[in-house]
Amino acid sequence: MAKSTGDIKLVKKKRLVTAALPYINNIPHLGHIVGSHLPADIFARYSRTAGYDTIFVGGTDENGSTSEIAASKIGVDLQTFSDKLHKEHAKIYKWFGISYDTFSRTSKPIHHKTVRDFFKQMKKNGFIKEGTMKVFYSPKEDRFLPDRYIIGNCPKCGYENANGDQCEKCTSVLDPAQLENPRSSISGGEVEIRNSKHLFIRLDKLSPKLEKWIKTQSQWRKQVINLAKGWIKEGLRPRAITRDLKHGVPVPLAGYKDKVFYVWFDAPIGYVSATKEARKDWKDIWKGDTEIHNFLGKDNIPFHTIFWPAMLLGQQEFNLPTNVIGLQYLNYEGGKFSKSKQRGVFCERLLESKLDPDIWRAYLTQIIPETSDSEFKWNEFQERINSDLIGNYGNFINRTLSFVSSKLGGNLQIQEENTLTKRDKKFRKDVRKRVESITANIEAGEIRKGFADILALSTEGNKYLTETAPWKLLKTNPKKANDVLANCTGLVKTLAIVSSPYLPFSTKKIWEQLNMPGKCDTPGKWDQAYEISLPKTHTINKPEKLFSPIEDKEIKKLKEETSKPTNLSELFNK
Ligand code: 2FM
Ligand code: ZN
Repeated sequence: MAKSTGDIKLVKKKRLVTAALPYINNIPHLGHIVGSHLPADIFARYSRTAGYDTIFVGGTDENGSTSEIAASKIGVDLQTFSDKLHKEHAKIYKWFGISYDTFSRTSKPIHHKTVRDFFKQMKKNGFIKEGTMKVFYSPKEDRFLPDRYIIGNCPKCGYENANGDQCEKCTSVLDPAQLENPRSSISGGEVEIRNSKHLFIRLDKLSPKLEKWIKTQSQWRKQVINLAKGWIKEGLRPRAITRDLKHGVPVPLAGYKDKVFYVWFDAPIGYVSATKEARKDWKDIWKGDTEIHNFLGKDNIPFHTIFWPAMLLGQQEFNLPTNVIGLQYLNYEGGKFSKSKQRGVFCERLLESKLDPDIWRAYLTQIIPETSDSEFKWNEFQERINSDLIGNYGNFINRTLSFVSSKLGGNLQIQEENTLTKRDKKFRKDVRKRVESITANIEAGEIRKGFADILALSTEGNKYLTETAPWKLLKTNPKKANDVLANCTGLVKTLAIVSSPYLPFSTKKIWEQLNMPGKCDTPGKWDQAYEISLPKTHTINKPEKLFSPIEDKEIKKLKEETSKPTNLSELFNK
């Protein structure tokens, strides 16, 4: 992105940011937040502030076996179940400040139509064929058992509870007939194999084009590209895109009355449907010069690097993703999140706690599982917040503004260029370089590194303050004291802009304390972060502390409260 210090410049380029559409079989825990919504939100917020014409979409994935099973366990119909769960999801993402332009639902008619159109186009282009699939059938339940209705041992890694379509553990995409020791996930009972007529996407035919495309992807993380290349190398076979299920998007073809599309066929098309809802110019976005950045969790990687791009190549009209930001898993205190064992931080409980969402965003950003699985630890949470966010970042901002307020009556004059000392110049240069690094990291989807740069920036600020000691200068050289504090205030302004994607609630407060016009995250504002710039003379507002340290007893209480997940049936008894 071109940088400048003058007026706001908008980058006209369109940028579509997506976060994987969560299943609604449960209320999200922190793993879901760090695994897609939060990094996607930070990237989308950055993109808007950097002047991209940004569209950020998401929604709930309501079709398929996952939701069906969850609803029937509670004993409510799927629509009632989904309505409730969609609301719970939306409430949680809103609390975290996830700035979706549209948070849609795959149960909406607009989505069904988009899926139908997409399918027809692929069929017209010759990438859909009919065939027979060996599927499991439960004589006891008198029904077919697709996907999550069946569990068995993964043929690749041996995991005992692999689903019919994918092993969650090693992320291998499976055909149900590959499962060893298959059994019904509902009754645990025996199953038999039957032949059933289905529609298939011609992954075999699409494979050469797909391979060529994957090889040209320069932005993807190593792990993501290597996985994709590995799957291509194994050889792609036609894959069924329909299922013997009641709920989902009906197939617009004679002979498919009792079938619906496979959830992984309809869900990614949800990105298109949600864009339609968000913007009138959705066709330009999907067909024109747009960058598309998909954020998603580990088990979603095969679908976003192989299956969905192949669908797009077969449909031949819409853009393929620019970057597929595949994240790894988040663990909890040395093990997995587990609802039944009450191990984890369950988001609905956070909404009841008094803690600022930015506190969570700050720590969660530091544990986004970008390159490997990461871990939530309560003692680390406390330590990171108290030392990084409060001791370093908050302290620099509050120290600076309090000083300006108490010693200069809140009034500053920007330092003139010809009075800059070597140290001042170094300070300004370091700021510029650090902002360049923040920009480059976020652009590459390295959200965590971007935040580390922000903390390094406030460390620079604290160092500059300590070395120049304006409290001493006040007595000996008041003009210089003003200059130093004006530079520091300029850095506070820079910090507000560059941390606005990460800490949207607190940076709004910083902007108010700075008494700056407009907002710190106005589209195009990012350009103003590179240089220390304030109006020639400026008066700040009364500063206030941004955060309070988290004490041991608070951690204990939070841990107790947030580890108790909602029993889903309770939701329906209210
Ligand atoms: O893993 C999941 O929760 C899936 N529902 C993700 C779907 S992403 C997409 F393509 F919509
Ligand atoms: Zn496996």
